[in-house]
Amino acid sequence: FADPSFSADLIGWQKVHGRHVLPWQNTRDAYLIWLSEIMLQQTQVSAVLGYYARFLERFPTLRDLAAAPVEDVMAQWSGLGYYTRARNLHKCAQRVVAEYDGVFPSDPLLLAELPGIGRSTAAAIAAFSSGRRAAIMDGNVKRVFARVFGIDSYPGEKKTEQAMWLRAEALLPEVGIESYTQGLMDMGATLCTRSSPSCERCPMQPRCVAFATNRTKDLPVRKPK
Ligand code: ADE
Repeated sequence: FADPSFSADLIGWQKVHGRHVLPWQNTRDAYLIWLSEIMLQQTQVSAVLGYYARFLERFPTLRDLAAAPVEDVMAQWSGLGYYTRARNLHKCAQRVVAEYDGVFPSDPLLLAELPGIGRSTAAAIAAFSSGRRAAIMDGNVKRVFARVFGIDSYPGEKKTEQAMWLRAEALLPEVGIESYTQGLMDMGATLCTRSSPSCERCPMQPRCVAFATNRTKDLPVRKPK
């Protein structure tokens, strides 16, 4: 499934049309990136922005966060939802201080062993903070892949998800992992949306199976009953 033109087209689009001024971009500080990725796991960018700024005012560094009472962390998180994220965030901060002297590891496999950091979040943190080549896979990426490659099995299915991970790894660029990873996120969020994709502006249109066969409405397939 390797295809260097896939990443080249996506990177070219991201550099011109992607998002470049989000507060967790234009930094390699793993604390700033990790915090953003945890907040963005189940919450949209627009809802995260205010919480992100206030959280960093209260906990400017990883050590500030690790040393704070968990109640203070929960209070700052209040309103964002999915509160297990906040408990894991605090635990993770304490583990990184205790086990890594306050410096996040750059290896995505090590990151994924920390509380609240799954395989995809580990890949995003490693890509943005260290330029490490690792694949992300969330609902947006699954939707993009299902459409572009015409994958017509349910992405919630183990086998389908596994196949998507393999594709995602084969498609990683040799250089430019930051723009590539951000580009996948940006495409899923701004172009290849669930109910009204903007195919006329999409860099993937010439290769998109769903577009060619008029199936954007039917892909990804919904959960079978
Ligand atoms: N969602 C998850 N990670 C993101 C990021 N880095 N930028 C925008 N949206 C995201």
